[in-house]
Amino acid sequence: MLPRRHDYGMKRTGGPRNGSVINFRTTVNSGSVRRSSAVLPSVLTFLVIVASGGLLLMIEKGMLNSMETPPPRGSGKRLDFIRQIGKHSPSAVDVDSQILQEIRNRTIRTVCSQKNMPHSIWSLSPLQRKTLLQHILVNDQYHFLYCYVPKVACSNWKRVLKVLNGALESVDVNIKMDHRSDLLFLSSFKPEEIRHRLKHYFKFMFVREPMERLLSAYRNKFGEIESYQKKYGVEIVKRYRKGRAKDASVTGDDVTFAEFVHYLLDEDVERMNEHWMPVYNLCQPCAVSYDFIGSYEHLESDSEFVLQRIGAPPHVRFPERQTWYKPVTTETLHYYLCTLPQKLLRELLPKYILDFSLYAYPLPNTTTEHCRH
Ligand SMILES: *[C@@H]1O[C@H](CO)[C@@H](O)[C@H](O)[C@H]1NC(C)=O
Ligand SMILES: *[C@@H]1O[C@H](CO)[C@@H](O)[C@H](O)[C@H]1NC(C)=O
Repeated sequence: MLPRRHDYGMKRTGGPRNGSVINFRTTVNSGSVRRSSAVLPSVLTFLVIVASGGLLLMIEKGMLNSMETPPPRGSGKRLDFIRQIGKHSPSAVDVDSQILQEIRNRTIRTVCSQKNMPHSIWSLSPLQRKTLLQHILVNDQYHFLYCYVPKVACSNWKRVLKVLNGALESVDVNIKMDHRSDLLFLSSFKPEEIRHRLKHYFKFMFVREPMERLLSAYRNKFGEIESYQKKYGVEIVKRYRKGRAKDASVTGDDVTFAEFVHYLLDEDVERMNEHWMPVYNLCQPCAVSYDFIGSYEHLESDSEFVLQRIGAPPHVRFPERQTWYKPVTTETLHYYLCTLPQKLLRELLPKYILDFSLYAYPLPNTTTEHCRH
């Protein structure tokens, strides 16, 4: 089996210091960076900013223009990728996906090498570690750990895990997904067992554009799920809708996206519901060194890569999208983000800044001109 993601022998570098605003290219000096920046003159412009917590954050701009096109299925090699850049060959999208992997990898290494970032799960607070361990699923037969992120195809991955451990006959079995039964969580192991698995197993996770993930959570939970309307919706409406603070008739089934965002602004990221908790807090990419970070935007090919990499038997496939699945389109996202006062959106972004920066998603355009189109 030929691993698709190639090791470029990237070295961890000292990384930029707090408080400086720098160009990313000038800080990382390994040969491979020079090699790829020679062919990518304009795409790798990074700004480093200092966020409220004093963390160094990198915002990546102006790249990933061709992210919407799905990669060709199964085109598995990154050979000659340097040569093909710039040509509009069929593998261009695959090449983009490889570049994305490399950018993510480098950004995570650089940001995570900062002193104030956690370097192991044992340096997390007990609450942070608990959240993390409850989101890592274990398969001891195929030796992998999967950090699941709600709203990023996690039900489908859980199906795959259940097929791999024999609890489910096929990924297509028509049952409602039970998110706990027949799954093994890293939180159920002893410290030394956890240590062993983190060290020796293949570790992967999947990410998605942060605002798209939020919108997907909002539409699903507040549009469809009564328990969420009761548990969160009622409180949100009472808190953020004028004159409703003491209104007993509030049902919570009509939370607006703006009200939801107001609520998020007031929540502590470490105590949020997992459907809107930042991916950073769910999976702690600095404390756990993931071997692979797939994208929702390249779900099919990235999942196939993981299945190959863990040595899954050929009959185990990643499930097709469910027929009832309502995708969040670019237009829908644009519509919802533009129904928000843009000031509110700008206030929200810092809460998810690590998800944008570590996973190389460009920040949304928050100008009013943008919303006129
Ligand atoms: C990052 O690169 C290293 C070495 O090149 C590799 O071992 C690791 O799997 C990569 N991680 C991700 C998340 O791509
Ligand atoms: C935002 O959108 C407007 C209008 O489409 C455009 O003129 C502007 O350059 C964009 N800003 C950024 C930062 O992309």
